[in-house]
Parts: sequence; C-alpha cells; structure tokens
Amino acid sequence: MTPTPPLTRTELDVASIRDDFPILTTLVHGKPLIYLDNAASTQKPRAVLDRLIRYYSHEHANVHRGVHLLSERATDAYEEARQTVGRFLHAADPKEIVFVRGTTEAINLVAQTYGRAHVGGGDEILVTVMEHHSNIVPWQMLCEEKGARLVVAPMSDDGELLLDRYEALLSERTRMVAVAHVSNALGTINPIRRIVDLAHSRGVPVLVDGAQAVAHMAVDVQALDCDFYTFSGHKVFAPTGIGVLYGKAARLDAMPPYQGGGDMISSVTFARTLYNVLPYKFEAGTPDIAGAVGLAAAIEYVEALDLDRIAAHEHELLAYGTRALEQIPGVRLTGTAAEKGAILSFVLEGVHPHDIGTILDREGVAIRTGHHCCQPLMERLHVPATSRASLAIYNTREEIDVLAGALARVREVFV
Ligand SMILES: Cc1ncc(COP(=O)(O)O)c(C=O)c1O
Repeated sequence: MTPTPPLTRTELDVASIRDDFPILTTLVHGKPLIYLDNAASTQKPRAVLDRLIRYYSHEHANVHRGVHLLSERATDAYEEARQTVGRFLHAADPKEIVFVRGTTEAINLVAQTYGRAHVGGGDEILVTVMEHHSNIVPWQMLCEEKGARLVVAPMSDDGELLLDRYEALLSERTRMVAVAHVSNALGTINPIRRIVDLAHSRGVPVLVDGAQAVAHMAVDVQALDCDFYTFSGHKVFAPTGIGVLYGKAARLDAMPPYQGGGDMISSVTFARTLYNVLPYKFEAGTPDIAGAVGLAAAIEYVEALDLDRIAAHEHELLAYGTRALEQIPGVRLTGTAAEKGAILSFVLEGVHPHDIGTILDREGVAIRTGHHCCQPLMERLHVPATSRASLAIYNTREEIDVLAGALARVREVFV
C-alpha cells in the first residue's frame, strides 16, 4: 500500500475534522452515512455540543435583566457571541449584529421595518431569478401591502446573473436590491461588490442573503459594502433557531423596531414607549441565548480551520464531483457558473429526483431533491425539481465516488 502523502500547510485535515462530528459515524440502512445535504443544514462538531452543555450546566439564566451571577454569566456569553459574529463578518461595530431566528426572519425583519418605512405605491424591489423563497416572499408581501412591484433580474443558462440586465433594471423607483451571495440551488457565487456598487451609484440599498456563503468562504461586509447581510446558524455548524442580521449602524438606527416587547425598550408608559439602542431595539423578548453561544463556538471552530482553506478544499471537491457526475450518461448539471460554491445540482434523464433520493438513501447517501425552495428558478430551468449534493468541510473524494457509483446504479434500474 502506498503511504498517504503528508498534508500540505494549506490542506484541511479532513480525517481529524470528521472525528469532530459524532453524527458522521451513524449507519444508514447498515451503510456508513454520507452526508451531502449541507446546504439544507450542516452537522454539529463536538466543540458546539460541548459548549451548549457547558452553557446550560454552568451559565444559564435570562440576559440583560438580573444582577445575580448567572444572569451576568449568560449576558457576558451572549454579548461575547455578538462580538464573535461581528469579527467573523468584519462588521464595524458589534451593535450592527442583530440576533434573529435565521435568514428567513432577518429578511422579514428588513422588509417589515425598512421596507414598510421606505417603500410606497409604484416603487420597486429588485431581486434575482435565483433567489430562495425566503428572499422573494417577504418582498412580495411588502409589495402587496404597499402597491409596489417585484422586479426580477434574469440569469444566463449557466446560472450567472446577467449584470447588464440587472443594471438596466435599476430604476429611480427601485427601493431595495435583495440578492443571494451564493445560490442554494445552483451554487452560483454572485459578484456582490459589483452589484452593490451599481445599486449604490443610484442610492439604492442592498440586502445580501448569505445563508449559503458563510460556512464556505470568508465574508467581509465592509469590503462588500452591503447595507444588510443575513445568515442562519444551522448552515454554519451551529444550532437551529439562531441567525444573524447585519445592518450598517446608520441604516438600523433609522429603522423602526420589528417586534415589541421586553428588552427592546428603554422606557414604557401607557402614553408612550421609548425604544432601546442598537441592537436591542430589534431583539424583543428572551433571545435564543444558547443558540448565540453555540453559534460563537461554531464560528470559532471554522475560524480555527481557516475559511480560505475551507474554500480551497471545497473547490477541489467540487471540481472532482463535477468530473465524476459529468461522466455518468444522462446526467446534466444545473448551474455551471464560472464562480461556483460546492453545490452539485443535477437532473438525470428519465428518472424523477425523488426516486434518485430514495435509492441513494438506501446506500447511506443523503442528498436533497425537489425545488429547493426556488420554484421560480425551477421554472426558469424548465424542470420541476433537481437532485442536489451539497458539500462541506467533512466531505471527501471517496464519498463522491460512492455518490457517483450509486447514481450509475440508479440509471441501470430506471433507464
Ligand atoms: C439561499 C438561502 N436563503 C435563505 C434560506 C433560508 O434559511 P432558513 O430556513 O435557515 O431561514 C436558505 C435555506 O435553505 C437558503 O439556502
């Protein structure tokens, strides 16, 4: 047997990463789990699980309320988590980080506060054809309420945003651009800085849906210059139920609050309520304290691995997976943009994606099949659904080999 070559300084030690994720030893129908559904949700490393146990064992109480020791500990842990997220996104100030339930809530928050205050009859919100439903429906609801119009920027057959068409659609009625950093169904990485510059040159703010970006590449909101950036903890190895809205302080300051309740006020009388300062103005009620603490642990975990190394590992896997799938007769990749994250979306001629998913599950391979909460994109692609293998730090070439072998067998059964 040839010895395994030593890792270079820029390579991830995937074997040791895999040891950090207890769930990866699960057997599925007697076969080792091959988890390729990371765009839907990622698995959790022991560092996050242990942090949650430590928090609930030694630090839990409500935040911002008590003078007792545990409340101080919980408040410190929660506010330290905010600082960790701020550093992770390269925000100018931790007060620009608002904890929410996830990307969906973050986008709804902006639509219902900034949007309601600034969008009127005849105004336009510009999105792209590749958006997730959570970056479409909140804007549609706002448009319905205000008599505004949702405008959709198109893409090429490869899944690349048509920038000249996007630019032409920016009008004096555009009040917001809302765009995915990385498409969950295609993998396309959108040129955010260019999109932002074009919007800003017309005075239009930009919200970036970073749900599929933050676990896979370094994100610097100041370099991107976006006005809002959103992501979900559970897609970056953190617990479910916690997410982040980043907003430039001046924008957030000028926005009305989202929900009313405890913590978001500075004083209440029956005559009048004064609202709290940032970011508390947007955090009504008891927040997901443990979720925030777990998110900080997840961020520290990926930071220690190094996001540039993570991106390089996934890029290499994507290239390997693309070659492997292209060799299977009848497979057509949906989403072949030049700048692409580690998402392999495909159709297999003559086989419904649901059947593919079911057969792969018997082989221990977890993928996602369906419209991926992107029904307008499926319509643009002229397919009802696709199959999607989405990769993360713990995936390997060997797992892609199993996927490709299983797909070849699916073809034998159905075609
Ligand atoms: C691009 C994109 N945006 C938004 C979301 C919604 O995220 P959540 O359900 O965590 O709010 C997802 C989830 O799949 C996504 O992939």
